[in-house]
Amino acid sequence: MLSFDDTHITTKKSPVAPAIAGPAPGKTAAAVAEPTVTSGVTGLEKINFNAARIKVDEKRIINCRADLNQLVPFKYEWAWQKYLDACANHWMPQEISMSRDIALWKDPNGLTEDERKIIKRNLGFFSTADSLVANNLVLAMYRHITNPECRQYLLRQAFEEAVHTHAYQYVVESLGLDEGEVFNMYREIPSIHDKAAFELQFTQELCDPNFSTGTPETDRRFLRNLIGFYVIMEGIFFYVGFVQMLAFGRQNKMTGSSEEFQYILRDESMHLNFGIDLINQIKAENPDLWTPEFQEEITSLIKQGVDLEYRYAEDTMPNGVLGLNVPMFSEYLKFIANRRFRQIGLPEQYPGVQNPFPWMSEMLDLKKEKNFFETRVIDYQVGGALSWD
Ligand SMILES: [Fe+2]
Ligand SMILES: [Fe+2]
Repeated sequence: MLSFDDTHITTKKSPVAPAIAGPAPGKTAAAVAEPTVTSGVTGLEKINFNAARIKVDEKRIINCRADLNQLVPFKYEWAWQKYLDACANHWMPQEISMSRDIALWKDPNGLTEDERKIIKRNLGFFSTADSLVANNLVLAMYRHITNPECRQYLLRQAFEEAVHTHAYQYVVESLGLDEGEVFNMYREIPSIHDKAAFELQFTQELCDPNFSTGTPETDRRFLRNLIGFYVIMEGIFFYVGFVQMLAFGRQNKMTGSSEEFQYILRDESMHLNFGIDLINQIKAENPDLWTPEFQEEITSLIKQGVDLEYRYAEDTMPNGVLGLNVPMFSEYLKFIANRRFRQIGLPEQYPGVQNPFPWMSEMLDLKKEKNFFETRVIDYQVGGALSWD
């Protein structure tokens, strides 16, 4: 069972890792200058032939100078376990039948205008949001994570983001929606644009060619990127849409689309938990970064995220529908934001709020072999299915 509050931080304090650079073949150690950089390695450095073997205590999440191309010895078992868990949850969008959704969508009396708007707006937001997440992972974040078991998870996560974008495309194509309208919403609908632009600023900061971690200021900028994506994007910005789309399924409407979102929610819940562990591990290894001023900055960012998501709820749902309304989302967003604050060690900011959607936590328990809407499920074959002749 997935839990939001699972954390598996490696608490053992490691010493500052030694430099990767060792004597090249035929040279003495004295001839090799100590690197002056304080940022971490990327894995693209010259191979140090005959260098000393890496020790587990040398490993660090950021600014590590031990070889990144050796997955083992493991230090962060939680990261490796999440990689294994993610692989065990493998699914593909086209396994889910869209035939009932297509019939309902094409029936002029099948859905109300308010219901159609919710579906289109959510496809509009998510269809580009997962690309923004994938871009941040591979273009901005990956190179600064100096730990191979975490990178292994990031590679799996990046693939899952591609599967999610595929899922939205599959729903858009199945329903015969105007793909230009859906995929352009982040450039045409203010509430969707504002969430995307809020996230893009974090990616742009790290893509500055002069950016590198290794100073308290840049390490904080990196941590802010992780919080911007894992806590705010995947932990807050996705949740109005998840509730809305899963609410259709609970009413036996758009069950294929709803099931796609349910699988995505399960993946996203794991991305979020990985991100929380990653953030807390960096904090544990670099306690000086977590100053009162920085905590204030992060608190303010998360509150901005809650406000943007509330505007998105208003925009997607001007009228109450599916047993949901905007005041319920106001309560829900504060409830999940309180949980996010707690998860990264900050005080809750919205006292006294309750969860108006307790059924959402059940949705995380989806099992591949016994799925919620009793549609067809494929179990994946592993190595034994390969034929070599
Ligand atoms: Fe995703
Ligand atoms: Fe994600």
